[in-house]
Amino acid sequence: MASIQRFLVKEEQKTYVFNLASLLKLLVLCAVLWVLGVTTLMPNKTQAQTVREMICGGNRDFVYGSHPTIGPIFVADTTQYNLKNAENMLPNIANLVEDVVFNYDPADVKDYMWRTTLSGGAVAVKHLPTVTEMQAWLSMTEAEAAEETDYGSRSYGTFCEDRSRDFWEGDWLWPTIETLTGAKDCASAKPFCERRDLPLIRMMCPETCGCVDPLAGLYVDNGCRQLCRETPEFQAALASAACQDLSNSKQELAWQRWWSGFYSNERGIWSEDNEMMTFARGGAEGNCSFLLSQDWMARTFCQQRQTRPGTMICPSVCGCPGITDGWCPGSCLSDATPAEGGDSSR
Ligand SMILES: *[C@@H]1O[C@H](CO)[C@@H](O)[C@H](O)[C@H]1NC(C)=O
Repeated sequence: MASIQRFLVKEEQKTYVFNLASLLKLLVLCAVLWVLGVTTLMPNKTQAQTVREMICGGNRDFVYGSHPTIGPIFVADTTQYNLKNAENMLPNIANLVEDVVFNYDPADVKDYMWRTTLSGGAVAVKHLPTVTEMQAWLSMTEAEAAEETDYGSRSYGTFCEDRSRDFWEGDWLWPTIETLTGAKDCASAKPFCERRDLPLIRMMCPETCGCVDPLAGLYVDNGCRQLCRETPEFQAALASAACQDLSNSKQELAWQRWWSGFYSNERGIWSEDNEMMTFARGGAEGNCSFLLSQDWMARTFCQQRQTRPGTMICPSVCGCPGITDGWCPGSCLSDATPAEGGDSSR
């Protein structure tokens, strides 16, 4: 019993000595850290706090996205904010995105939109139920986005008519256009109709841009809804158009516009020495017969790719009514029958 008692006391003393040494070491360490902290760490900490407040301020429990080539912004609630979603957006949209990120409040979401007034004016941001749904929106191509028409689907709410801020999605889409171009309505957006990198303009202003007119002379086609070609207006214009090359002022205007759109969009992609580029740069002075000098030029002008063909401008050179891609004037078809019957040399 006694030996056990003594042993315990010894043990306690040992422990005490050990702790005292540790305490001294700890005090020295604290002193060193304090000196370090006052001289170097404190200023860094203040900086780090400022940065942290800048990056992580406000609500962080959501993700956002902006379509990589069309622009409109989406938000979806999450439990953790992920800054990685800032990748892959139109460069000019960054400021608006930042404004949305620092002001978004899920309490203000109503009717599938978060609507508020930011520094640039009233904005709306489409609110999606899940991140998966947002990924589906963001992965839509320009063509898919433009064709989507069903209400309640993944539709941007653009159809075959110009859209203003008055319609439901107007507050969602127009601030994006304004941020990208400064335009507030289709009239002021008109100069941007020719820009391949701005499909949203043609989605919102298909009438102004000429998506719904076969003889508009529009060159870029992304953002134009292809289904609009089936409307009675489009078909009527196609049916009544002349079957002759550059035979009226509308064709001449379309000719100028097509070549101007061709040049502005292919500059930097095609060589400046290319014959079509040289012709366009020189103001497209000439007529449809220019295209006949090289097979590839007629093909480029007359075939629809991601661009609109000039078939309605030069129907004869383009081989109407022989080509059946839906761009030949209707009058070529009715003219063709008697011409074929009367011309025995063919
Ligand atoms: C078209 O242009 C060519 C040469 O540039 C010219 O010889 C021809 O007469 C023109 N045709 C018409 C119908 O103006």
